[in-house]
Amino acid sequence: MKKEIFPPNPKYTEDALIGSMDAYWELQNRAKDDYEGFWREYADSKIDWLSPYDKVLDESEAPFYKWFTNGKMNVANQCIDRHLSTKKNKAAIIFEGDNGDQQILTYRELAYEVNKTANMFKNQFNIKKGDRVVLYMPMIPESAVVMLACAKIGAIHSIVFGGFSAEALRDRIEDAKAKLVVTADGAFRKGKPYMLKPVVDVALSKGCESVNAVCVVERNGEDIHWEAGRDYAYNELIKNESPRCEAEPMDSEDPLFLLYTSGSTGKPKGVQHSSAGYILWAQMTMEWVFDLKDNDTFWCTADVGWITGHTYIVYGPLAAGATTVMFEGVPTFPDAGRCWKMVEEYQINQFYTAPTAIRLLHKMGEDEPSKYDLSSLRILGTVGEPIDPPAWKWYYEAVGNSNCAIVDTWWQTETGGHMISPLPSATPIKPACATFALPGIMAEVIEKDGTPTPIGEKGFLCITKPWPSMIRTIWNDPERFEKSYFGDCKIDGKPVYFSGDGAMIDEDGYITITGRTDDVINVSGHRMGTAEVEEAIKKHDNVASVAVVGKPHEIKGEGIFAYVVLKSTPMEHNDEIANEFETVKEINAIIKNEIGAIALCDSMAFVPDLPKTRSGKIMRRILRSLIKGEKITQDTSTLEDPSIVDVIENILNK
Ligand code: WTA
Repeated sequence: MKKEIFPPNPKYTEDALIGSMDAYWELQNRAKDDYEGFWREYADSKIDWLSPYDKVLDESEAPFYKWFTNGKMNVANQCIDRHLSTKKNKAAIIFEGDNGDQQILTYRELAYEVNKTANMFKNQFNIKKGDRVVLYMPMIPESAVVMLACAKIGAIHSIVFGGFSAEALRDRIEDAKAKLVVTADGAFRKGKPYMLKPVVDVALSKGCESVNAVCVVERNGEDIHWEAGRDYAYNELIKNESPRCEAEPMDSEDPLFLLYTSGSTGKPKGVQHSSAGYILWAQMTMEWVFDLKDNDTFWCTADVGWITGHTYIVYGPLAAGATTVMFEGVPTFPDAGRCWKMVEEYQINQFYTAPTAIRLLHKMGEDEPSKYDLSSLRILGTVGEPIDPPAWKWYYEAVGNSNCAIVDTWWQTETGGHMISPLPSATPIKPACATFALPGIMAEVIEKDGTPTPIGEKGFLCITKPWPSMIRTIWNDPERFEKSYFGDCKIDGKPVYFSGDGAMIDEDGYITITGRTDDVINVSGHRMGTAEVEEAIKKHDNVASVAVVGKPHEIKGEGIFAYVVLKSTPMEHNDEIANEFETVKEINAIIKNEIGAIALCDSMAFVPDLPKTRSGKIMRRILRSLIKGEKITQDTSTLEDPSIVDVIENILNK
């Protein structure tokens, strides 16, 4: 079936940055013909170099690619200082609190706060270039200020999403050997205070020897435990610092940040990003994909704890000199009109969110958008998971009034910025389709040996040439980096970057993402490794073995489902069900403790065994098919006990 096609709104094409498919192809062909020349042009015109680089791309240690070698620059300078001559009084950050608080920081004010914070880090905490600073922060302007202050002095930040537990926080602090943790007392959510500092206290109560100090921003004013000699009040310390701070000259390849993300095996990996290449692509995609104009107000609803928040709340918008909105609350409080009210009030031009939020807002407030004036909107964006056609349609019609392009942006923590996305004033859009690789990005759908996957069939989504904002390595684990991303797919015998996603190309060359091909699931657009959840569940005394899979969920896209084999079911009490119910609660309590509430199981089934091959390998594909109610196409005769498939199916049907 051919999908309906939505051409760009002609009202906007004329003064668009990329205003037609011809313009797109011209750029993309230029990149194909002269890859380094293409990137040189942008690096020269976009980045404010302190001293010039000598080589665009160094492939000598592939896949540890280097970009713009030996160039010197500073990301905070790129995001703030260089704008001061032309935009000093422009709003850089508009903050809206959960409770409706408002705060606006101009570029000049942002520079002032960032410099003071940078000096505080240097003077009070002895933070030097290359030191790691962990942030466990809510969605308040100080989060952006602290990120940029780190960038200014060359410290490497590592943000841990506020929904992660003390255990998860401790793992990340220890892996990064952070010297300083920056947190807040807490923040507000749905009209009530919630706490962050107590989680940091627990995380630091065992281990974390690298941490010398905790710097606490005051947000909700609740009482917190205070450890003298370790805990310091941000709001007090900052008063004495100078608002002038020289930017540390950073090598293009010096790490800007680490961000831990889930893989298909083992513990989360610390994705390491560079300075120059990362910020270049953050800025370019911000400009191209959101067709940024000088007067625009841009709102990305993500949290700074995820890559989307890094690149499209803080770094991309500020590098591009835009006005970015930061929102502390949730889209459904006080009601499902909150976002639309904010769009009207701040005259938002680009609104960027996850399909989960769209589905939720659709369900909870189908007609809410019509109550507000949303005519400022030009571009709507989605990210993080596949969007389904009904959600797309509602977004397009009810929110965008059939006037806005929807940019379905495919990318990953590892890619730093958008990779595949419509260009709002060029690409004729097919709903729920990421369309084409952006200019400069070489995406292909292939088989593992490099042969192109036939049209309309699922293959492996690979990026076949390095790009400036790509992951540089996994912190402390270069081998895992090579194995995770350059181990699966090869073209002419040469490893290429494999995303972990499957995709399909149609007869018009459009790319549709079909989802993860590995053991990573996508819960509400948040990436979760099944292995991590399984590790947590195995900590329960009565669990013998477990397999976790994604289960389709109406709002969340995928929910977490666990098949659990218990060591013993105390049948003698004949209250199996009640007992299992208790066990469910206990297992979820462990998950909450080990990872955080975002990893809780939606449901689980207690099964007598898991389908295993004779060598003991769990056949997850069968378990995935079973939970989706799909026909089992795998050959079950090779299983140790083929009858287990029917047994499990019967349990699920109950
Ligand atoms: C998924 C988020 C379909 C994909 C920026 C990818 C998507 C993972 C899309 C990365 C999209 C992201 N359509 N799926 N437009 N965007 N994904 O690292 O499976 O949190 O591999 O980065 O999200 O998640 P991550």
